[in-house]
Amino acid sequence: MQNLSFFLDGQAIEIPCDGDERLLDVLRDRLGVIAAKNGCGTGACGSCTVLVDGKVRRACTLKVAKVAGKSVATVAGLPEPQASMVAACLAHGGAVQCGFCTPGIVVSAVALLLRTDEPDEAAVRKSLRGHICRCTGYARVVDGILDASRRLRAGEQPPPPPGSDAIGRPACRPSDLERARGRHLFVDDVRVDGQWFGAPVLARVPRARVLSLDPAPALAVEGVERVVTAADVPGERLVGMIHADWPMYTAVGETTRYVGDVLALVVARSRKAAREGAAAVAVELEELPPVTSPHDALAEGAPALHPGGNLLTNPVLERGQLEAARAISARVASDRFELPFVEHAFLEPESALAVPAAWSGPLPAPFPADVGGQVTVLAGTQGTFADRRQIASVLGLAPDDVRIVLLPPGGGFGGKEDLSVQHHAALAARLCGRPVNVTLTREESILTHPKRHAMRIEMGVGCDSEGNLTFCEARVTGDTGAYASMGGEVVERATVHATGPYRFEAVKLEGRTVYTNNPPAGAMRGFGVPQVAFAVEALIDRLADGSGIDRLEMRRRNGLRPGWLFATGQILEPDVRFVETLDAVQAAYDEATAAGKAVGIAAAIKNVGIGVGVPDVGRVRLEVHGGRVQVHSGAACMGQGIEQVLRNVVCGTLDLPAAAVDVCLGDTATTPEAGVTTASRQTYLTGGACLIAARELAEAAGAAGSLEALDGRAFPAEFGPATHAVASDELNPRTHVAFGFASQVVILDADGAIERIVTGVDAGQVVNPLGVLGQVEGGTAMGLGYALSEDLAVVGGVPGHTNMAKLGLPRATDVPPMEIHLLPGAPPGVGASGNPLGAKGVGEVSAIPTAPAVAAAYRSHTGRALTSLPLELKD
Ligand code: FES
Repeated sequence: MQNLSFFLDGQAIEIPCDGDERLLDVLRDRLGVIAAKNGCGTGACGSCTVLVDGKVRRACTLKVAKVAGKSVATVAGLPEPQASMVAACLAHGGAVQCGFCTPGIVVSAVALLLRTDEPDEAAVRKSLRGHICRCTGYARVVDGILDASRRLRAGEQPPPPPGSDAIGRPACRPSDLERARGRHLFVDDVRVDGQWFGAPVLARVPRARVLSLDPAPALAVEGVERVVTAADVPGERLVGMIHADWPMYTAVGETTRYVGDVLALVVARSRKAAREGAAAVAVELEELPPVTSPHDALAEGAPALHPGGNLLTNPVLERGQLEAARAISARVASDRFELPFVEHAFLEPESALAVPAAWSGPLPAPFPADVGGQVTVLAGTQGTFADRRQIASVLGLAPDDVRIVLLPPGGGFGGKEDLSVQHHAALAARLCGRPVNVTLTREESILTHPKRHAMRIEMGVGCDSEGNLTFCEARVTGDTGAYASMGGEVVERATVHATGPYRFEAVKLEGRTVYTNNPPAGAMRGFGVPQVAFAVEALIDRLADGSGIDRLEMRRRNGLRPGWLFATGQILEPDVRFVETLDAVQAAYDEATAAGKAVGIAAAIKNVGIGVGVPDVGRVRLEVHGGRVQVHSGAACMGQGIEQVLRNVVCGTLDLPAAAVDVCLGDTATTPEAGVTTASRQTYLTGGACLIAARELAEAAGAAGSLEALDGRAFPAEFGPATHAVASDELNPRTHVAFGFASQVVILDADGAIERIVTGVDAGQVVNPLGVLGQVEGGTAMGLGYALSEDLAVVGGVPGHTNMAKLGLPRATDVPPMEIHLLPGAPPGVGASGNPLGAKGVGEVSAIPTAPAVAAAYRSHTGRALTSLPLELKD
């Protein structure tokens, strides 16, 4: 250790350092600077970007010794007026979703504007090459930086928040500016004096018998206090939101099921000691041959990976007369499609900070003043109540003894639905009697959490001589890896959406969800539908081409309309506006086609809400205090927009300014349960509940003469129409409360590069246009990555990439211009169909059509029909 001096955000710092320490660790863990975020540890994501003597640097790969005598600036110490201008233009322009990437982006943007005061779009995009934003699709980020540069040149003030908060008006969260300035707290930004840190010991081989585990070498590491193993779990060791099949720890004598199985957790006084301890635990494994494909898992003689065998679920949906429909088919198209595992790549790695009841030390905000219960967990999760139930189960406690306090996560996209570190932090905190933080490295994150399912889809479709679709027969085999996660439900959703947004006379749709020793697969944006959309859209094109019918016209002819039947037999309600999304992209399609450009078109349908007979309710409680309204809901906002949806609904209904409304989300002790943030459900269900509550409050305020007269009153409401299971006996089961729709056109230039993407989206009643556009742009960018570059490359049960730089995530220079058309107005039938708000979530449907539309465009360009992702564009 030697004393090292540098300037940090203008302040002189002198600190004893080991010169090998990373600058980021010194900033975050030793100096308490949270503005630089730890996203990947390899310099790939840019979340930790700082300026060192004015040059852009990644603090996670820079040794602290390199900054001796230099000036380091985080987002908190950037020059003005550039810093305030860029932050405001991003925040108020809708470029901040989860906000984990944003402080680093502000640093790079300010560096650019210091170098040149009039950058063009290409220069802005180039300056963002070192950053990954998984939420926004970069469009609003680029626009925000260009806006900032224009305003600076004009000598203008930073822009205020957009519009007024009301249904249908663009708005952003009051906290977005704090996020852009790096002041917003993510879980790993919170420090409690006296807290310890946990680091997991992972199996790192896909299948092995655990012969022994010796914690002694770890306990010999200075600072290590405890090694937690399966023997320490007081309650039920298996967790799982739906199927409890996932051991919190694999015990000695048991067999691991994937590389991310946790064998132990090392708890130490410092993060560094915990990691050294985890590396020191002596584990003896007997490696066994892994089962690495559904085909092998279902083969005779395959080892049973779970007590019930390797076939988790086998949904089948048959409707209509398949053979008769096949017999009247003038044309048939069929093929086999292969889709890879895909990593969510949310920017904030999994993190939880748990405090036991025994802890008497002071707790900083955002801990509540009175934590109560037996253990309180700060978590960036998609489902606080689902976490609470499972953590209580492993701890052997009643759910009310566990309190989950949500800190809005830095992205999720489905990958933060399962427990990851929350239960480990909770148990370690109880065992050690003090706060314990468990935060994964990016490598651990990629190794452990569930992925988008790899799927094989065998599909055949037919049409009659007029181009009317006749039959769809599909077999969907989903590799759900080591544990169920949401696998059975994903495959069921994929199976019933295999027909796309089209009517077929008859369907036979089979699914198989199969355990293997690959990483678990579960929920990811689209919930299995992106995979089947890739298949059915390709085959629709082949039928259209073979029939001499224009591809868009083929979709219009067969596109679902109100009164028609969905694949499950559900009669579609008046709010279905699929054909209108085709209308929205028609002009761009016609123009590009007439210009002789290669064009691809694809469409998407996605259920809104969980549906299929599962109770699914959104809840809020409005409270009036001192003339202000508090909105309490258990919903999680991970940047997708529910916080602002609720604010817009209350402001619009009560005619209040945004400043008079506080939205409090996700504390299991103080908010009503509103289900997991998944399945595009929160805007529809919790937004609907909020409108019901707000109308009651407005009526009461009218009767009482003022809002102030209601001081202390609460207005709870819930909304959650019942649905039927897919296997229901009903002739026309209502399997889903609503559906979202999108159509998308991808246009290539003469060289085969994507020139433009045009999307038409049915979001129902648009509550916050800024939020909806951000979702569509971000979903499209994610779909682009799925189409062209993303592949976890799992071989032999082992992910080929655990470095974020190698995941093929789109960067700012990879995303083409996007043009988005939101269908105007409220859809017909609002209220009649039970949807008071008339809004539909678009987080998922926006990510579905891009891959098939890109594939179609390249098919037009090259004549090659590609049946796997990512597309192999080179011969
Ligand atoms: Fe960029 Fe979430 S806003 S990663």
